[in-house]
Parts: sequence; C-alpha cells; structure tokens
Amino acid sequence: MKILIIGANGQIGTRLVKQLKESEHTPVAMVRKKDQVDQFENEGIETVLADLEEDIGHAFKNVDGVVFSAGSGAHTPESQTKVIDEQGAIKAIDTALDAGVNRFIMVSALMANRDPDAWPDSMQHYYEAKSKADDYLRSTDLNYTILMPGRLTNDEGNRKVELNEKISDLEGRSITRDDVASVIVELIDSENTYHKSLDLLQGDEPVREAVAKIS
Ligand SMILES: NC(=O)c1ccc[n+]([C@@H]2O[C@H](COP(=O)([O-])OP(=O)(O)OC[C@H]3O[C@@H](n4cnc5c(N)ncnc54)[C@H](OP(=O)(O)O)[C@@H]3O)[C@@H](O)[C@H]2O)c1
Repeated sequence: MKILIIGANGQIGTRLVKQLKESEHTPVAMVRKKDQVDQFENEGIETVLADLEEDIGHAFKNVDGVVFSAGSGAHTPESQTKVIDEQGAIKAIDTALDAGVNRFIMVSALMANRDPDAWPDSMQHYYEAKSKADDYLRSTDLNYTILMPGRLTNDEGNRKVELNEKISDLEGRSITRDDVASVIVELIDSENTYHKSLDLLQGDEPVREAVAKIS
C-alpha cells in the first residue's frame, strides 16, 4: 500500500519512512519545509509539501493509507499542542474521509487512554489534545488503529514488544522509536487491528506475532 506519513521528518517519522521503503509498502513523506522535500527526494522517497496549519488536501491524492505521527513537540507553547496534536490530527482525519482514504493509523500516547486524574499537571494539555483527537477518530467509519506508545527512546530497537488493548504494568518501561516504526509497518494491512486502540511498550514478543495475535 502507498502510505502518507504525516510528520515524516520527525523522530518516529524518519525511521518509519526508512522501514516502509524496505517493506512491501511505499512511503509518501509529508513535510512542511522545502529543504526537507529535497532531503527525502534525494533518497528516492516520494515527498509532498504540506503544513497541518494550512490546506492539506493535495497530500491525500493517490494514497491508500495515512499514518499521523506529527506533534507540536515539547518546546512550543501549550496552545500549539492543541493546534497540531488535536486540531491538526482532526484535520487529517477529515481530509482522509473526504479523499476516501480508509486506512488511518494514529500515533497517540499511552496515557491519553487513561483516567485524566492520572495525568501529571504539566502534561494535561498534551494528553487532552491526544485524547480528543483519538475520540474523534473512533467516531468515524475509517479503518483506524490508534497506537499508544509509552515513553519513547532513541535506542536501537530489538523488535520485541508488548502490544495490548491495556497494559497495566507501566513502571519504568519505555519503547524505542525504532520499534514503534516497525509495529506501524506491521499494522498497515493487519485487518485484525482495525478499530483498536493498542498500548505499546518494549516486551518479549516479536513484532509480527504481537500484531497477529490482536483479536
Ligand atoms: N515523547 C514521547 O515520549 C511520546 C510518547 C508517546 C507518543 N508520542 C507522540 O509520538 C508522535 C511522534 O513523536 P516524535 O518523537 O517522532 O515527534 P517529533 O520528532 O517531534 O516529530 C513531530 C513531527 O511533526 C511535524 N510537525 C509539527 N508541526 C507540523 C505542521 N504544522 N505541519 C506538518 N508537520 C508538523 C514536525 O515537523 P518538523 O520536522 O518540520 O519540525 C515533526 O517532523 C507525536 O505525536 C508524539 O506526541 C511521544
């Protein structure tokens, strides 16, 4: 499948583009700066220039699925979290619906699916934005999967994960961005993961088996 990656220049996005290029799928990198277009195109990756704060309709032409892995980042004002992580995500969902692109994978965050009372004060705005976008996606007819990784690291992945609708033991655990990308590649045409919200942490199960056992 041809997959539009929103946030392709990000830390998960760049790993995902690379892994998708080596898979049976084809990445289309959505980036917001001209120099990023040149960088991806020099590596032979189809690229589209689009900004979530503007019209993005043109980016959804001739693709079969979408991965939303954009985020405002930790160093922007709280208001920007709402603009990108909530409103930008909802814009991407609406644009996929308009374009008839039915497969939609959302990179959310594990705590967004937990009781808001458990959210640290400093992260309230972030989890609220994520959770509103996730709820909106759940209300659509899209074939969505909401992937909810825990704390992210930049270590090299080992392709061993725990992927479940609810993981209760969170203490001290994390997941590499490398392995988040490898799970996304596996999710793309796994119909058993449609309409699921899945927590993701490092674990013992090979990625392919962890995705295949979701029911
Ligand atoms: N940090 C964690 O522990 C954690 C845990 C769970 C989930 N997550 C979520 O995982 C996702 C990916 O994380 P990451 O580490 O890969 O994030 P990242 O490196 O900050 O990447 C985010 C990407 O979003 C892009 N972006 C920002 N504003 C945009 C706009 N207006 N239009 C188009 N693209 C825009 C950025 O573009 P530029 O490259 O141009 O800046 C960047 O490439 C995020 O949604 C994050 O919230 C994070």
